[in-house]
Amino acid sequence: MNKTFSQSRAICANDRYPRLPLCLLTLVIVAMAISLPAAAQNIQVPQPSPGLMPNPAAGKALYDKNCASCHGNNLQGSDKGPPMLSKIYEPSHHGDAAFQLAVRSGSRAHHWKFGDMPPVPGLSADDVAQITAYVRLEQRKAGIR
Ligand code: HEC
Repeated sequence: MNKTFSQSRAICANDRYPRLPLCLLTLVIVAMAISLPAAAQNIQVPQPSPGLMPNPAAGKALYDKNCASCHGNNLQGSDKGPPMLSKIYEPSHHGDAAFQLAVRSGSRAHHWKFGDMPPVPGLSADDVAQITAYVRLEQRKAGIR
């Protein structure tokens, strides 16, 4: 019998019941250590490529296609979603990460009465960074900073 095997038998041997709880505890801790980072990844903010220079014009085209149906032409809002030209969406209240998370995972209704925002599929983190650059530019023009 090799050494490792006899050691693991010493911890987990099922003919020694007093040690079984310790063995199970060890297994649970190992399983948690493996699965926790995986769970944390689900709420990780999607990161744009390092060095990306977000382009508001590219962002406007993506916004018009993916967001305007609810957030309105020219960010003015619609009967399905709030205007992005609102103090509520100024950078200090809804930072760029809020845009990444809302697009990836959707957003529960909490500021308005339009209902939840569903996730918007098919957009990369870079696409969302472009859209955010467009929103920030228009917000600055409207005095929201
Ligand atoms: C189907 C309608 C719909 C579409 C499409 C949509 N949104 Fe939204 N979005 C909403 C609604 C409704 C809210 C407000 C939820 C609330 O009450 O706070 C919202 C909120 C947000 C918020 C704020 C999230 C927060 O943390 O409070 C951001 C940022 C946002 N949207 C960005 C976008 C972007 C960018 C797109 C396009 C890629 C987009 N939305 C497409 C409906 C939509």
